[in-house]
Amino acid sequence: MRVMERTFREQLFFLLLCLCVLKGDSRYIENNDISQDELFSFFNSELKRETPDVLMYRRPLRCLDMIAVEGQFTFTAESPQLNCAAFFMAEPNQVISVDYDNVDIDCSGGDFITLFDGWVMKGERFPSSQDHPLPPNRRYVDYCDSGPAGEGARSSQNVAMIFFRVHSAGGGFSLTVKKHTNPFPCNVISQSPEGSYTMVIPHQHRNCSFSIIYPVALDVSEFSLGRHSGFSKRSLSGCPETGDYVQLLGGNGIDTSKLFPITDLCISFTGPTHMKIGCENTVVRMVSSGKFVSRVSFSYRLLNSQELQMIKLNNVEDFCFNNRV
Ligand SMILES: *[C@@H]1O[C@H](CO)[C@@H](O)[C@H](O)[C@H]1NC(C)=O
Repeated sequence: MRVMERTFREQLFFLLLCLCVLKGDSRYIENNDISQDELFSFFNSELKRETPDVLMYRRPLRCLDMIAVEGQFTFTAESPQLNCAAFFMAEPNQVISVDYDNVDIDCSGGDFITLFDGWVMKGERFPSSQDHPLPPNRRYVDYCDSGPAGEGARSSQNVAMIFFRVHSAGGGFSLTVKKHTNPFPCNVISQSPEGSYTMVIPHQHRNCSFSIIYPVALDVSEFSLGRHSGFSKRSLSGCPETGDYVQLLGGNGIDTSKLFPITDLCISFTGPTHMKIGCENTVVRMVSSGKFVSRVSFSYRLLNSQELQMIKLNNVEDFCFNNRV
């Protein structure tokens, strides 16, 4: 049933993109109806197709696109294209730069290209405004506002995107996407439904989220706070009071501040912890006071359909299944 639903949604997906109309004076196409399933099925086929074996990979950019490789991407409007978006993604320890090469759009006629530092889906942002170093309005860089040079930008994490609109046929632009090493990755969207990751926050007062946009089995193998690792086993009356802790969150959107808390791990954590989470988005979020070098290691894999079914049957109250649309 789920499979059928997906196929149906994939078809809908393209329809919606053609048909959806921007609300009011909203300049940004944020109320997109793109679900994570749809995006990722698109993305997986994209990964298989794109093998960057030439010096500079080049291909046309589609009105709805997912780009996980470096290269030059050219959009040309064959007819007015009013609601376009391209999602960029890199490895967890990379950030993405997007630079314009040739731009032929009519800014005064209402065309635009806007870079966003993160992803927006159905009006929700990743990273959430709480966890992003920049205030929300500074995460948008508008080509038309940034002068004739049309500055590109570099993302703060492994995902970024552009929204664009081109009214006249023949108009368009090229952009070059590059990936750069990020020595201290904080917020991350996992490229795949399985893998392992160690999140480290070195003496920084900030919070970082690792988001897995699939229902997964998650194993937390290690959690430590600097020297205090395994030091204190006394029971504390709730994690937040210790200042540093790890949250496991789940839900069906991408804004981590709107997800449901599944459990908190704090200094008394003796691990390992194994959990199956039937949500469309599973997040490991670390809250760091900056007093320690905080570290959490975990691995994850996709839940199969039997496991999902079991969770569904066993947890009548399960928030993820109950909130599924
Ligand atoms: C980190 O998250 C906690 C709990 O969500 C919040 O109280 C705190 O202000 C956040 N810290 C920073 C630096 O954003």
